[in-house]
This record gives sequence, C-alpha cells and structure tokens, in this order.
Amino acid sequence: MLLGCYNDVLFVLSCRVNMSSINFPNIDHENLPKWEGDLAPLECIEVIEETHNVKSFRFKSKKDAWFQFLPGQHTTLFLNINGTDVMRTYTIASSPTRPHTITITSKRMDGGIVTNWMHDNLKVGDCIDALNIGGSFSVALDKPRRKVLLMSGGSGITPMLSMTRYFVDLAIDVDIVFVYNAQTPEDLIGKYELDYYAHHQTNFDLHYVCDKADSSWQGESGFLDSKMLTRLVPDFLEREVYCCGPEAYMVNAQDLLDKGGFDMSCYHQESFDIESSTAQQNMAEPHEEPLDVPEFSGEVVEYIVTLSETGKTIPCQSNTTILDSIQKQGIGVPFACSMGMCGTCRAKMTKGTVDMDAQGGLLKSHEEEGYILTCCSHPTSDVVLDL
Ligand code: FES
Repeated sequence: MLLGCYNDVLFVLSCRVNMSSINFPNIDHENLPKWEGDLAPLECIEVIEETHNVKSFRFKSKKDAWFQFLPGQHTTLFLNINGTDVMRTYTIASSPTRPHTITITSKRMDGGIVTNWMHDNLKVGDCIDALNIGGSFSVALDKPRRKVLLMSGGSGITPMLSMTRYFVDLAIDVDIVFVYNAQTPEDLIGKYELDYYAHHQTNFDLHYVCDKADSSWQGESGFLDSKMLTRLVPDFLEREVYCCGPEAYMVNAQDLLDKGGFDMSCYHQESFDIESSTAQQNMAEPHEEPLDVPEFSGEVVEYIVTLSETGKTIPCQSNTTILDSIQKQGIGVPFACSMGMCGTCRAKMTKGTVDMDAQGGLLKSHEEEGYILTCCSHPTSDVVLDL
C-alpha cells in the first residue's frame, strides 16, 4: 500500500505486490469430490456462542470436498480424549443446501465427556475426525403432508434448524408451524435467525414456549399441554409432525397428539440423546425392559455368545441383539444409542458371524479388523467376543 498527498488530499494506492489474496475453495462441483466419512478430518472454521451453555462448531472438510446429507441427519465424531478413543453422534444443524460446511450445535452438560471437551478445547483451525453421515430422521426421506409441525425441546432443536434452513433455502411450498420449548428465554438457540424467518416468511409460524420466564417475556410459558397445543396449532391434526428433544418431552408430545386424535403414522421423532446417556451410564446397568427388536422373519435359533475375558457364556437367540442378551444376564457393558450410530458398544469378535445393521457407528477399518456393534448385531452362529 502507498500513501501520498495531493492538494491536501490523502490518497492511498493499493498495489497487489505483497498483499495476500483470498484463497477460494474449489467449488467446481463437476470435479469437487463428495466428502466421505470413515475418519475423514474436519477442520473447525468457526465457533459461535449460541447461549450461555451452547456453542456451534462449523467445520469444513480438511481436503476440498462438499457434504451430501439430508436435513435432520447426523454424523459421528471420533476423538481421543485423555488417551481414550470416544465416538459421539451429533445431528447436523446446518442445511445441505449450504454444502461446503457442516455445523454441530451442542450443549454443555454435567459429565458430558465429548461436548464439554469441545466447548473447552476445540478452536478454529483444529481438526477432528468424523465418520459418515447417516440417520433416518429427515423430512426429505418422507413424503410428508404439505403442512408440517416441528416440535423441539431444548437442544432437540438442531435437526429442526437444519430442516427449517432447508425449507427456506429451497423456497419449498410448505406450511410450517414450529413449537420450540426451552427452559428459559436465555436458553433459546438460534432465536435471531428463527425470528428473522418468522418475520420474513409467510409460511413460517413460530411459537416459543419457556418453562420459566419473568414478566418481560412475551412468548408462551409453562407446560405444553393439549390446551396450549390446540391454541397454538389449531390444525395440528392436518400436519406431519417432526419432534426432537429429551425423552420426557417426546413422550408428552406423543401422548398429546395421540389423545388428540392425531394419525400417529404422520409422527416422526429423533429418539436419542447420546451424550447425556453416555455421561450418566457409560457402563450401564441392564435394561429391565428389552430394547426394541426389529421384525425378525425366519426360524429363531439359539446361539452361544462367549465373553473371552471372563469366560462367561450367554445364550442369545437369532432374533435378539447380542447387547440385549448380555444385559439380560446382569452384565454391565458400555452402550449409548442402542441404534448402531455412536460406536460405544463396539466389541471385537474373534469367532463367529453376525447380522449387523450398523447405522454409521462403525468404521470400515474396524469392521475389517473384526469389530461389531453389539447393540445391532444378531448372531448367525456361536460367537466369541473380546469382552
Ligand atoms: S450403543 Fe451406539 S452403536 Fe451401539
């Protein structure tokens, strides 16, 4: 840059020499590779303080690539924290219509190993590994009615943010009502952005419901009951419902809708809260009730699962998951999502064969080394596990 003076006017001459230029990413979609997970590094490019205990982390692929996913889907991060490998699944809050980055929005919580580590340590320029993107909770996977009701409680807002951004970016002809529950007004995530949509989109009706709020709060407060639901969404019976939040929130939502005469085949929910469940029960005690078992067709055969470290042998039927059978014997083993997504229940199988329905929670390389996810594996022979 040159500075000079002419007729008392200061002038600045810019010159290209010695000036750095913008380094644009490769956005030639013809040639730009699609991001593939399986430990593909993500670079953190932005950290946003959303609320007093929520941060958003924006990532780009370390190598030029674009992300293909559906609004509401999730990815699993793979980190080494204090020498221990940990995997955690997070819904992507950003929209696939902005495919060069993905955003994970997470809430700090007591005992939350991965989220708290991210809050305390992850900064712009850092890289972390991630597995593939997956999941079946997405409006884009269904053929929903033209009227949609989004319901979220607390940090269950993340898939709803992705869906909302997707609807807006693509100008989709849809009538959206969004009921967003939070503890207090200070806990509302993405409020400025949602308010913007509410003011500028004719098809977006937004209702905040806070458990506790002082007299300055202009939105709803209190418990979401059938009276409030009917008042806020009088035509809820005509809508496709997407719901995400803590278990108790979703149970209440289902109950309200069901009792109100809603066709529950139009109800969809995201039913996991991995970070909190692993924080509380990383070596969880057995379930009293069996976990949901997928429909099983064919002859039920009983096999033996041997845990090589203790020599214990466990009967396991071919229509039952190995995790469930182990738990029925009163043996505590690590698990979190019970859906093949988080990788917490990973165990090495040294003998035998299984049918496994991993939903992105297992690296290809680990599978090749003989690891299985016990929560979604059904034996097809006797099995020996390194447990
Ligand atoms: S418990 Fe999450 S993959 Fe098995």
